Amino acid sequence: MKVTVVGAGAVGASCAEYIAMKNFCSEVVLVDIKEGFAEGKAMDLMQTASLNGFDTKITGTTGDYSKTAGSHVAVITSGIPRKPGMTREELIGINAGIVKEVTQNLVKNSPEVIIIVVSNPMDTMAYLVHKTSGLPKHKIIGMGGALDSARFKYRLAEALESPISDVDGMVIAAHSDTGMLPLLSKATRNGVPVTEFLDDEQQKYVIEETKVGGATLTKLLGTSAWYAPGAAVSVMVQAIACDQKKMIPCSLMLEGEYGQNDICLGVPAIIGANGVEKIVNVTLTAEEQLKFAEAANAVREVNGDLKF
Ligand code: NAI
Repeated sequence: MKVTVVGAGAVGASCAEYIAMKNFCSEVVLVDIKEGFAEGKAMDLMQTASLNGFDTKITGTTGDYSKTAGSHVAVITSGIPRKPGMTREELIGINAGIVKEVTQNLVKNSPEVIIIVVSNPMDTMAYLVHKTSGLPKHKIIGMGGALDSARFKYRLAEALESPISDVDGMVIAAHSDTGMLPLLSKATRNGVPVTEFLDDEQQKYVIEETKVGGATLTKLLGTSAWYAPGAAVSVMVQAIACDQKKMIPCSLMLEGEYGQNDICLGVPAIIGANGVEKIVNVTLTAEEQLKFAEAANAVREVNGDLKF
């Protein structure tokens, strides 16, 4: 299977690395606009192949999309990341232009492609791809929930003083500091609700730290994170490549699900060879329903800034 990753920066290169390391794809093509950058990243990664024991072929190109032809999956990470103090929404002006152009180039060369959108503000960028690509909705998947859920589990394990493999939890709604909805009511430690172990203060800590997980890292790193985003994308690509039918929260076009229409928001879905195989309906508490609706209103406002 051939995968294209557009943007060979921090997140794009991390995606390519994790995909290659897991050895489930025959080829990864990195694309960047910066002269020689994708070629350099590809060569450096290929020189880890004998050390890390993978056979995936990684190549790079400076904007030659003919090299991406026949891609089964394409990941869009091109665009600018946020700096400390910025919100994801502030990136819309520059990133919308880049995502639109990249999408057109991808679809022209791979009409059957499944696109995973990473560039921020991600829910709005996923919506833009729906409106401009001509692809069916099951082939456009925004990456946010997989990463945010991993951050949620990290904070749950920290608060519970337990191994991460003992905890399970999911984050839905928007991929933004305010619109993220960690589903504490459904989180478990080996099947037991975490609410039985954590007091109110601890619950509040886990939720707040999860929501600002990206901002915390941006402050520490001076730019946004890349290891966990790259790993999250690789899990989604593997679910498609290996037809795993894995349940992953993703930003998807909603048509009535969760009471919303004509908007991309994070919801759990079964991901397999066809992309989105099914949106899963999880019963939300009244408070969660309200928060989901508030997140939708905020994303809708950002979507209003798009020009098609
Ligand atoms: P980066 O600056 O390291 O890499 C972006 C790359 O895109 C650069 O190498 C740049 O040359 C390239 N690029 C720009 N315009 C392009 C074009 N027209 N065609 C091809 N390549 C182009 O940024 P980083 O840290 O990799 O972040 C990338 C994006 O991913 C940002 O928008 C960031 O906010 C977003 N992000 C999203 C996450 C999510 O959970 N959805 C998590 C982390 C980052």
